[in-house]
Order: sequence, then C-alpha cells, then structure tokens
Amino acid sequence: MPNIVFRGPVLRSAALACLASIAAAALAGSQTFAAATIGAPITVPVPAPQKGSAESLKDEYRRPAEIPFPASNPFTPEKLKLGKTLYYDTRLSGSGAQSCASCHNPGYGWGDGLAKGVGDGMKELKRRSPTIVNAAWGLIFMWDGRAPSLEEQALGPIQAAVEMNMPIEKLLERLNSITEYKTLFEAAFPGEGITPAGIGKAIATFERTAISGWAPFDSWIDGDAKAISASAQRGFALFNGKAQCNTCHVGWNFTDDSFHDIGLPDADIGRGAFLGVAVKMRQAFKTPGLRDISRRSPFMHDGSMATLEAVVEHYDTGGVARPSRSDLIKPLGLTVEEKADLVAFLKTLSGSSDVIAQPIQPR
Ligand code: HEC
Ligand code: HEC
Repeated sequence: MPNIVFRGPVLRSAALACLASIAAAALAGSQTFAAATIGAPITVPVPAPQKGSAESLKDEYRRPAEIPFPASNPFTPEKLKLGKTLYYDTRLSGSGAQSCASCHNPGYGWGDGLAKGVGDGMKELKRRSPTIVNAAWGLIFMWDGRAPSLEEQALGPIQAAVEMNMPIEKLLERLNSITEYKTLFEAAFPGEGITPAGIGKAIATFERTAISGWAPFDSWIDGDAKAISASAQRGFALFNGKAQCNTCHVGWNFTDDSFHDIGLPDADIGRGAFLGVAVKMRQAFKTPGLRDISRRSPFMHDGSMATLEAVVEHYDTGGVARPSRSDLIKPLGLTVEEKADLVAFLKTLSGSSDVIAQPIQPR
C-alpha cells in the first residue's frame, strides 16, 4: 500500500476515487520497466480489478496513512501543545466551568454521551454534541454546515452565549494574565502575541490529531479474513448493497460531508436555514462519519436514538415521508437477521483507543 497523503481542500469523492485507483494499481502490481536506453523508468499500469468485485470494494475503505493539515495552518509540535492545553482549559469559558472537552470528551468518543449538549448555566442546547474524531478529514462543520473550517469553528463555541459565554476581548485579557500561556503562544506563533487567529489555529491543530484507532474492520480490509465475524461480513455486503448505506456513508471515514434529510420526526430545519430554497435541504443534516460509532450513543443530531439497533430499525422503516426526505431513504424490507448483520458490521468500526492524558493547566 503506497503512502497516501490528502493535502489541501481536495473533494472527498475525488480523493477517494484517487485512493481507490492507486490502491487498485498497487493491488494489481504496477509493472515497472527500466528502460535502459532512455534512463527514466516507464510505469505501465496493469488494468484495475473489475469494478464491483469484492476486492475493489474493499479498497474504498482503506485508511489513509497520514493526517492532512492545511497549508494555511501546517502542523508543528508547539501548536499541538498549545492547542491541547487550550482545549482542556475551563478558563476559556465565562463561568470557568467548561472547556471544549466538557462536550467533546475522548472518554465519550469525543462527544459528551448526552442527547443534547449542556452549555453555560446548565442550559440544554438544541442539538447533540457531535464527535470531533477524524475532523481532520472534514470538509465542512456543524450539523447544518455553518462552519467552513476547524480554525473558524473553534472561536464560535467560546463566544456563544449558550455555550462557553466568553467574549473574545475578555479571553485575550485572561490568557495574557497567565505567564505560562505567553510562553506557549510565543513558541507556537513567534512574535505574534496572543491572538484569536492563534487560538483557532492551535485548537484546530490539536483537533486534527483526534483520530479513530485501528479497528477490527481495518484488519479485515487488510486481509485478515477472521478479523470480523461472518455476520459482520454479511452486514458489510448489505451496507454496500441492499441497504445502500454507502451512498451517503462513503469511504474509510463513512461520510460524504454532505447533507440529507433521513426522515427524523423532529422539527429542526438544519441545513434548510442556509439553503431553504432547495427542497431537499429542508431538515437535512450533515452525514456523520461512522468510525468508533458504538462509543457515542445516543445517535443523530437530536440524540433521539439510544442504540444502533434503533438506528437500523429507523432506516428499515424509512422514517417520515416528506418532500425533503432523501430519495435513498425508503422502506428497505430487511429481515431480522439482516438487521442484526448490519449492527454487527457497525460494531467492527470501533478501534482501540489510547488513554489520553489531560494536560497540566498553565499558571
Ligand atoms: C456546551 C457544549 C459544547 C462546548 C463547550 C463546545 N462544543 Fe463543540 N459542539 C457542540 C454542539 C452542540 C455542536 C453542534 C452544534 C450544531 O451543529 O448546531 C458542536 C459542534 C462542534 C464541531 C463540529 C463537528 C462537526 O463534525 O461538524 C467542532 C469541530 C466543535 N464543536 C469543536 C469545539 C471546540 C474546539 C470547542 C471549544 C473551543 C467546543 N466545540 C466547545 C457542543 C459544544
Ligand atoms: C441519504 C443519505 C444516508 C443514507 C442512505 C444512510 N445514512 Fe445514515 N445518516 C445520514 C445522515 C444525514 C445522518 C444524520 C441525520 C441527523 O442527525 O439528522 C445519519 C446518521 C446515521 C447514524 C448515526 C450517527 C451519529 O453519529 O449519530 C448511523 C449509525 C447511520 N446513519 C447508519 C446508517 C446505516 C446503517 C445506513 C444504511 C441502512 C445509513 N446510515 C444510510 C445519511 C444517510
């Protein structure tokens, strides 16, 4: 498997197509002929496996080898250290009681384990706190897509009255009064001082390192035929076949970074707040990735489903029929065994996860 690095704002589908074709070529074994007379080797690609074959399907699910960081905010260890410290620091909130980790906690699959987030003054938010796992590959953020980048997103919850309720000027003042923060910012952004842009870049850098661990599914994709059960293997076939889950939950991280109405009964208009004229965007929400999925119930933007069994049951019935509902969501006619197979497959997507040490807070 060649090293594949996604960099810059590549479209996921394009990147995946590229990943699939490179992997297919690797699988088939590109033949390299050393052309003695010309000098440079000439590579003749061997035809890729037939589309639709089990092997080419598996290639679409191979994990990338590296985390992508944008050219506008390249990785440095100093930014990571500062970002992690800020992420866990409750002094970023007006009440001094909440940090990003209060709602995006590694112990809860980088969510909070609640149906709806709980913000400043213990007030319930409108939606569930999504995971930030694999956000490095995200193309657009929030359930309704209102944040274009992790850098910009980070400054939102800090200032939002309902979340951390901390005006940015007050935050800059507070951070400037903490000597060790001055040192951390100077190391990460020499000569720039403590700025909102620096806070966003540092937190985004830390978030990009929150990636899902190697899962039984990955071992199976890698060729270990016994890594997942026969039931889960049937579930994988259903996911990509009869149940059509893969039309929206695309590729190794299982998302198309797009918005769909899957027929949930609640009244939240989601993406419709921005693209109200498009019928299909009314009540549409961002497709969540499915990595580590069994760690973060309850599910959906409204936290309305407690188990993966309930999720599969929902897809089997097709939910509420209305003009905005995706054409792909309709009664599936799954048998009891097929539903169990789908759930067994979904459970193979949770990997080993390392214990994450909380940083010492600067004084
Ligand atoms: C009070 C709970 C709470 C706190 C504190 C909080 N968030 Fe969130 N976060 C949420 C909720 C709820 C959403 C979804 C809101 C929506 O889509 O309308 C969200 C969405 C996000 C997303 C988008 C994820 C995606 O895939 O679309 C990111 C990234 C994120 N938060 C990072 C942060 C960072 C960084 C901080 C700290 C600066 C933070 N959050 C603080 C509750 C919280
Ligand atoms: C039309 C696109 C589409 C199809 C097809 C689809 N999903 Fe989804 N899926 C979504 C969207 C969008 C959400 C989030 C919906 C919301 O919260 O309003 C979601 C949510 C989920 C969740 C909850 C994730 C979380 O973090 O809360 C799971 C699990 C899931 N889907 C599994 C499946 C399975 C299994 C299938 C096939 C039976 C499937 N999906 C088919 C788009 C789709």
